[in-house]
Amino acid sequence: MIATVCQKFLTHGTEPLLKGFSPSPRGSLKTTPDRAKLNSFQTETSQCLVASPGQSLNGSVTAPGDKSLSHRAVICGAIAVGETTVRHLLESDDVAATIDAMRHLGAIVEQGENGIWRIRGVGVGGFRDPVGIIDFGNSGTSARLVMGAMSTTPITAQITGDDALCRRPMGRVLEPLAQMGARWSGGQGEHLPLTLIGAELPVPIVYRLPVPSAQVKSAVLLAALNCAGRTSVIEPEPTRDHTERMLQLFGAHIDVSQTNESERQITITGHAELKACALSIPGDPSSAAFLIVATLLVPNSHIIVKDVLINPLRMGLYDTLSEMGAVIDFQNKRETCGEIVADLHATSSTLTGVEVPAGRAPSMIDEYPILAVAAAFANGHTKLQGLGELRVKESDRLTAIADGLRACGITVHETPDSLVIEGAGSKSVQGGAQINSHSDHRIAMSFLTLGLAAKKPVTVDGAHMIATSFPQYTDIMNKLGADITRGAE
Ligand code: S3P
Repeated sequence: MIATVCQKFLTHGTEPLLKGFSPSPRGSLKTTPDRAKLNSFQTETSQCLVASPGQSLNGSVTAPGDKSLSHRAVICGAIAVGETTVRHLLESDDVAATIDAMRHLGAIVEQGENGIWRIRGVGVGGFRDPVGIIDFGNSGTSARLVMGAMSTTPITAQITGDDALCRRPMGRVLEPLAQMGARWSGGQGEHLPLTLIGAELPVPIVYRLPVPSAQVKSAVLLAALNCAGRTSVIEPEPTRDHTERMLQLFGAHIDVSQTNESERQITITGHAELKACALSIPGDPSSAAFLIVATLLVPNSHIIVKDVLINPLRMGLYDTLSEMGAVIDFQNKRETCGEIVADLHATSSTLTGVEVPAGRAPSMIDEYPILAVAAAFANGHTKLQGLGELRVKESDRLTAIADGLRACGITVHETPDSLVIEGAGSKSVQGGAQINSHSDHRIAMSFLTLGLAAKKPVTVDGAHMIATSFPQYTDIMNKLGADITRGAE
């Protein structure tokens, strides 16, 4: 995937807005050799895929490496001292963007024998000025975490992303980083592209998250590594804690205290020296969700997804599916790299609609599109609340879900931050629609799932974006028995 630069933010009159940051024609951003190599991660996927109902799904597969953990492994490895090795790293476009950024900043990141990645870090505070523009493509996690990691080292970096990323809010990260001493120029309306100028003398802060975002929390914690003293992040609602756990593995000093029933304070001691680690990345529960929900919905199916991360702060979808009556067994629970993993056994199930409380949103924030599809096949209505953040994901997911479901014959009520889905029951979802994925990988995979269990096939446009998180999706699904083919483009 070659990101398209948001040209409107790059130019001011006829002059480039940012010095040395020359706009390229839309869609023709030059790829660096590294970037071109990284693009080989991408399996050949079609712009347009068609999922047809039919065969049951059966078999045993391993989930791709967790995306959140893969980003963090690459970043922590890049700022540690020594050589970090990473097995089962997610080789997707989003993680490629993080690898590319770490190389720009001076770390050596290479794919070694047997798919093991080797990262030689620069040490905390060791990033150098990048040559050229860092392009984060579609990846919000790369952009926000890397901005955090580099914001307390006195370097200047020009950063951009694809059109969708350039529309996403960056002020939520820039604001705490500015409190620590970082500055930026460009970034009209606090969006990419912008030039980030790292702090010469960063100061520690106590920062209360205004939105429940693990990306913002992580940006501040990574920034704090190169800052004297202790920095605290207070999160009123718990969000995924992978950064805290991984930094501890690398030797950082982190205290986590529960300040009331739901609120936590995470305090990190700066000027840390991180020591290289040998990591093995557990499977991604957010990607496994597409395999599991397809199995629940397609009759006579049974699959095993091995080595799936079951961190409690990522389990909202699985808790909800179980409340809906899904048969999913968690077997062989064990610990890997400071996280718990299990093998998930899923069987076709009859689902019943439920009300999902707003407080569960942070633990299933990426899973609402696929949950909405499950809800379409349930008996009775499902109410999803506290969905405001879905409007600023890779697409406006709330509207994309509602429009897609309606096109497939489902009744949906949408408010600014909630959805009510009138389940049609397992045998009555029409499908037969052409769905606009809005270039959003999770919307694409969700509606392909719907097509596998509906009455008529579903066509999904923009399905090449699946490569951002799950490049092997189509191969794995078809190996399990699904019928997903290329459509006419
Ligand atoms: C992520 C956090 C979530 C999630 C994203 C990955 C992370 O974003 O949507 O896909 O790895 O920290 P927010 O923290 O902004 O909700």
